[in-house]
Parts: sequence; structure tokens; C-alpha cells
Amino acid sequence: MSVVVRIAALSALVGCAGPTRTGAAPQSIPSLREEFRGAFHVGAALSTAQFTGRDTAGAALVERQFDTISPENVLKWGLVHPALDRYEFAPADAYVAYGERHGMMVIGHTLVWHSQLPRWVHHDASGAAVSRDTLLARMRDHIITVVGRYRGRIKGWDVVNEALDEDGTLRKSPWLEIIGEDYLVKAYQYAHEADPAAELYYNDYSLENPAKRAGAVALVKRLLAAGVPLKAVGLQAHQKLDWPTAAAEDSTIEAFSALGVHVNLTELDVDVLPAVVRGQTADVGLRAATTSAQNPFVSGLPDSTQRALAARYESLFDVFMRHRAVIDRVTFWGVADGDSWLNNWPVRGRTSHPLLFDRQHRPKPAFDGVVRAARAARAPAA
Ligand code: GLA
Repeated sequence: MSVVVRIAALSALVGCAGPTRTGAAPQSIPSLREEFRGAFHVGAALSTAQFTGRDTAGAALVERQFDTISPENVLKWGLVHPALDRYEFAPADAYVAYGERHGMMVIGHTLVWHSQLPRWVHHDASGAAVSRDTLLARMRDHIITVVGRYRGRIKGWDVVNEALDEDGTLRKSPWLEIIGEDYLVKAYQYAHEADPAAELYYNDYSLENPAKRAGAVALVKRLLAAGVPLKAVGLQAHQKLDWPTAAAEDSTIEAFSALGVHVNLTELDVDVLPAVVRGQTADVGLRAATTSAQNPFVSGLPDSTQRALAARYESLFDVFMRHRAVIDRVTFWGVADGDSWLNNWPVRGRTSHPLLFDRQHRPKPAFDGVVRAARAARAPAA
């Protein structure tokens, strides 16, 4: 179906010239959860303000639009396990309870990562690296404790996050350098031991780039050969307007599904701001300085960029719908634009517009584009 016909069809369905952008009540616009029902779950990463209900507008949008949630921060090591003998479970307990209250698929993110990881985990007070045995024991204790606490309640876990460098080799994280390559298989074995029914995922960014994708394909093969019941690869999908191409997204999903695993889109957003670092990276450790030319949309997105973002989201969801047999969920990294990490990365204090809902929680043209993709994929061929 042509884009023009699709727009007309959607306008007819919602009874106006597209979902209103003038402060519509959340009930008056389509629900993504309903639009994609039977294809895949649609979700968002939640901040504490959202799952505690402090952000009432955000929570209302979540409850209407999504049926799966991820925790933006509260299950990361530094937050849930800040000191050797201390776990802080209250925020994560509230996150899981919120998902259960609303009948959502609750995701765990993330167990073994190099970032937001306290230094005590891998170095002692004198600055020396701990031994392999100590680090393995700490990793096991963490995984058994955290996964075990939510056994049967968290559907699946990003067991390892971002183990690869851009060239496809293993990232020289403390995990690799101190334990060695078998930290990967061990992490999955511990998670499986703690909750044998939980789905286990490998999660990373820029897997659409050939070298990194090849590294991930090799890694998945190694995990499967070692008997790890890997359910899915998570493509974080921190995208730009022009990267990766729809064709690259398509072939990436195919490359992993050919290995017999599913593919989830786990942290989707589309950055419309000028690039300030080279390459396609989502490395949270990067920081750059800014100029006003790098922050051009402080008072809103121009129509041309709104349209480009809508077309971009529509073509991405066209790809996702084509592969819906192997995609279990598509999760946005944030609910509304004001929540996005891209307001502060890689430069602090920019005004970013990467999601489907604006700062007032109103649907953007990008939302219409996603709904069009859902309906087009289901429409009988003309
Ligand atoms: C990575 C992590 C996420 C989040 C984002 C940016 O993609 O997996 O948990 O930290 O960076 O916020």
C-alpha cells in the first residue's frame, strides 16, 4: 500500500486527520499493544517515577499503550547490589509488582555488564584486581540472588549486555580480563539454575554493523554449542534517521534467526539530533562537549523532521512485522521524549525527540507511522 493510501486509511479509522496532537486523552488514540496483538509485544523501559505512579501522565500512557516493560535502571548491578553484603530490592520489587498489577510481561535488565558496575565487584580496596575465583563467586551470588528473587515473575533476562567491541571481538571488560572467556557460559548457567523457566537473552547495540554482527553470531553459536538455552538476541536498536538501513535491519534479524534463536528489539529509539561522536555507537561511557548547532530542536521538531522520523519508524516496523514470527517484543527505551537518555548522551542537556510521544505525552507523527505499519502488514493484499 502506498504511504498516501495508508495515511488516508488511518485517518478514517481514528475519525480525524490522524491521532490528535492537541492534548488528546490517551484513550482517544490507538493502542500499540492492541495494534500489534498476535504479532509481538510492545513495551517501554520505565523510570522509577513511572512504575511508582509519580509520573501520572507517563504511567497512564504506559498502561494504555504497552504490554511489556523493562527497568531503565533499578536492576542494574550498581543499584540493586551496591555493596558486597547489601542488596537494595525495594525499587526492583516495586517495578515487578507494577508489571504484575497491569498484566504485563516483565523483563529483567541486566545481570552482567561492564557499566553501572561498582568497582568493588572486581577490584579490592587496595586497587588490585580480585582473583578469577572471587569474581566468579561474586557473579554467581549476584545472579542466583537477583534472578532467584523474581523466579517465575520476571519472564526473561538480559543475562549479558554488551560483551562485544565494534570489531566483533570480545570487549575487554573486567569480566573477560579477570575470569576469561568462560564468564559468558557461566553467567547463563547460573541464570538458568536460578530460574529454569526464565528466558535468557544476549543484548547488544550496533549488531547491524557487519563486523560486530559476525562477532555476535560467533558468540551465539558458542553459547548454543555449550548447551545454553538462549532464547533470543536483543538488538538494542539505538538508531539514527539514516542508520542502519532497513535492509541491514532485515538481514541482521535473518542472521540471528537462522541460528534458531528469536530476535527482540530491546531499546528502540531514533536519534534526530546531529551526531557528535563518530560511528554508530551507544557506548554509555562516551561524553562530548556541545554547541548550540548541536542542539537545534530546543523548541520543537520542524515538520520536515517529524515527517522523516515518521517515515523512519514506519519502515522499521515494516521490517519488524515481516519478521514477526521470530520477534517476541519491541521495547522503546523510554516512554516520552522528555524521559529519553538521549537528552543527556553523549552530551548533557540537549533536547532530544527520539520516541513516539512528545514531552507533553502527545503522539507524534511517528506514532501514526508505527500504527500504519501494523495495519498495512495485516491488510489483505490488494
Ligand atoms: C545501554 C544499556 C541500557 C541503557 C542505555 C542508555 O543500551 O543497555 O541499560 O543504559 O545504554 O541509557
